[in-house]
Amino acid sequence: MTPLLQVQDLHVAYRSRTGEVCHALAGLSFDLGPSEILGVLGESGSGKSTLAASLLRLLPPSGIITGGRILFEGQDVLHARPREMEKLRGRRISLIFQEPSVALHPAMRVRDQVEEVLRAHEPLDFAARRNRTRQVLASLFPADADRIANSYPHQLSGGQRQRVLVAQAIACGPSVVLADEPTASLDPTTQQEILTLFRTLRQALGLSMVLITHNPGLLAGLADRVLVLYAGRAVEVGPAESVLASPQHPYTRALLRCVPPLDQKSQASRKAMLPVISGESPNLSVLVRGCPFEPRCPEKMEVCKSCDPAAVPLSEAHTVSCFKFPG
Ligand SMILES: Nc1ncnc2c1ncn2[C@@H]1O[C@H](COP(=O)(O)OP(=O)(O)OP(=O)(O)O)[C@@H](O)[C@H]1O
Ligand SMILES: [Mg+2]
Repeated sequence: MTPLLQVQDLHVAYRSRTGEVCHALAGLSFDLGPSEILGVLGESGSGKSTLAASLLRLLPPSGIITGGRILFEGQDVLHARPREMEKLRGRRISLIFQEPSVALHPAMRVRDQVEEVLRAHEPLDFAARRNRTRQVLASLFPADADRIANSYPHQLSGGQRQRVLVAQAIACGPSVVLADEPTASLDPTTQQEILTLFRTLRQALGLSMVLITHNPGLLAGLADRVLVLYAGRAVEVGPAESVLASPQHPYTRALLRCVPPLDQKSQASRKAMLPVISGESPNLSVLVRGCPFEPRCPEKMEVCKSCDPAAVPLSEAHTVSCFKFPG
C-alpha cells in the first residue's frame, strides 16, 4: 500500500532571541496509510504539536525545519511553493487545534465559521457554499443542525464546539486530518463521543488521521497504529493492540503505567493515583548522542549512553529503538 504521508528523518529546532536552541524533533520518520488512524503518543514537550505544525508548515518564526523530508501523495511538502501550500493546507490536510477555545471566533455564528473555511479553499458560489455547510453540519449534528448553525460558540457545550471544529476540518473533504489533543478539554463522556465520531468519519469518508495525545487510553479501540514519541524521536511504532497491550520500549512501559485508572470517579483522585516517570525531562538544548531516555531508563546499559539505537523490527509492523533488542 502506498503511504499517503511520509515523514523521513525530520529535524525541527526552535531558536530563541537569546540564541538558545531547542531540538524539538530529532530525526523522526513514519508513514501514514490511506484510511489509517495513527496515534502519536508522548509526554508534554515530546514534540507532538511541533510535528503537527511542521506537517502543514505552520511553525512560528522561531521554529526551523533543519532537515528531513515530508511527502504528501508523493509531493515534497517542504519545497512546495506558497500557492501549492495553500492548496494543501486545510483542503487536503487539515488540523484540529489543541485549544478549542481559541480556535473559534467568539463573535461569529457557527454557519459563518464553517463557510469561512470553504471560502478560503473552494471556488464555490454562495449557494453551493451554504449547501455544503448545511450538509457538513447535518452529518455532525443530525438532531439540531439548524440551531447549531445559528449559534455563537458561547451558546454551545464543549463537545458541540469540538464538533464544530471537526466540521471545519472536514468541510473541504481532506484526505488527512491532524487532531492535536482534540479531547483534552472535554469530560470523559464527551471525550468518548468525539472518539466515536472520529471512528465514524474514518469509515464514512475514508479519512486518515494523526491523533495526537498524551493519554494512551484514548487510542485503544481507535488507532490502528501507535507511534511513541520521546524527545522528538520515535522510540516505538507498531499496531495499537501490540503497543498498548504489550509495550516493549522501557519508556512506553513507563508511560503506560501512568495511565489514569478509568474506574476512579473524580479527576482529583485520578491525578493523585498517577504514578510519574522518575527522572528529569530530557534536555532538548543539545542533540545528545545515545538514547534520549538513557538517564531515566531503569534498564540502561553502557552502550545506551554513547550510541543511537536504531529501530529494530520485532515483527513486520512493530519496531523498537532500544539496545535491549538485538538488531
Ligand atoms: N515557539 C517555541 N519556541 C521555543 N520552543 C518551543 C516552541 N514551541 C515548542 N517549543 C519547545 O519544543 C518542545 C516540543 O514542544 P511541543 O509543543 O511540540 O510539545 P508537545 O508534545 O506538543 O507538548 P504538550 O503535550 O505540552 O502540548 C518543547 O521543549 C517546547 O518547549
Ligand atoms: Mg502540544
